[in-house]
Amino acid sequence: MKRLIAPSILSADFNNLGKDVEMLNKSEADWIHCDIMDGIFVPNISFGIPVVEAVHKIAQKPLDVHLMIVGPDKYIAPFKEAGASIITVHYEACTHLSRTIQQIKALGINASVCLNPHTPVALLEDIISELDMVLLMSVNPGFGGQEFIENTYRKVSRLRNMIDKNGSSCLIEVDGGVNLETGRKLFEEGANVLVAGSFVFNAEAPDETILKLKNLA
Ligand code: DX5
Ligand code: ZN
Repeated sequence: MKRLIAPSILSADFNNLGKDVEMLNKSEADWIHCDIMDGIFVPNISFGIPVVEAVHKIAQKPLDVHLMIVGPDKYIAPFKEAGASIITVHYEACTHLSRTIQQIKALGINASVCLNPHTPVALLEDIISELDMVLLMSVNPGFGGQEFIENTYRKVSRLRNMIDKNGSSCLIEVDGGVNLETGRKLFEEGANVLVAGSFVFNAEAPDETILKLKNLA
């Protein structure tokens, strides 16, 4: 099974972002996770299109863009232009989710839906065959460094059953509170992609920490 690591630059050093991206380029990281927050959908503001564009100029890995914003439809094309390879929208922010997913795919990039911790995976039954990935939040979105919500393991396992029954190749990504312990269990339950922010960037040796996560696979 495909198992990937996507460090989140939300916890990078914004005074030395280029240096941190170079570190990710050289590391075992598979993707670079970009957390976009609008201060409305989530109680925090992070960074936007110009920063993603700047990262894309030097990144040698696909940009995995997680939109924690209301009304994502009008920002899908600009983020694709900025360099996104994967765009994730929140289930809770999309009234016409199927249309939004089609809009992402029409641009020739991968489409993904994120569920907040309280949103049941069963709500994806009628759209799972259209998705390239589902992102399960294992913390309430908005901040790095929060405590992992244990119920996520059950959600991963239920989602894994749904995807396998459907015969789809949809990936499962998990975001929030990932470390070696939670990461190991998430892979065991059937997750494919682990996002890690503070665990990687607060470590003394971020590149070695990425390697350790990668070795869980
Ligand atoms: C949370 C973001 C996450 C965050 C994860 O709202 O979506 O990607 O950066 O941070 P850690 O790994 O520190 O929980
Ligand atoms: Zn994220």
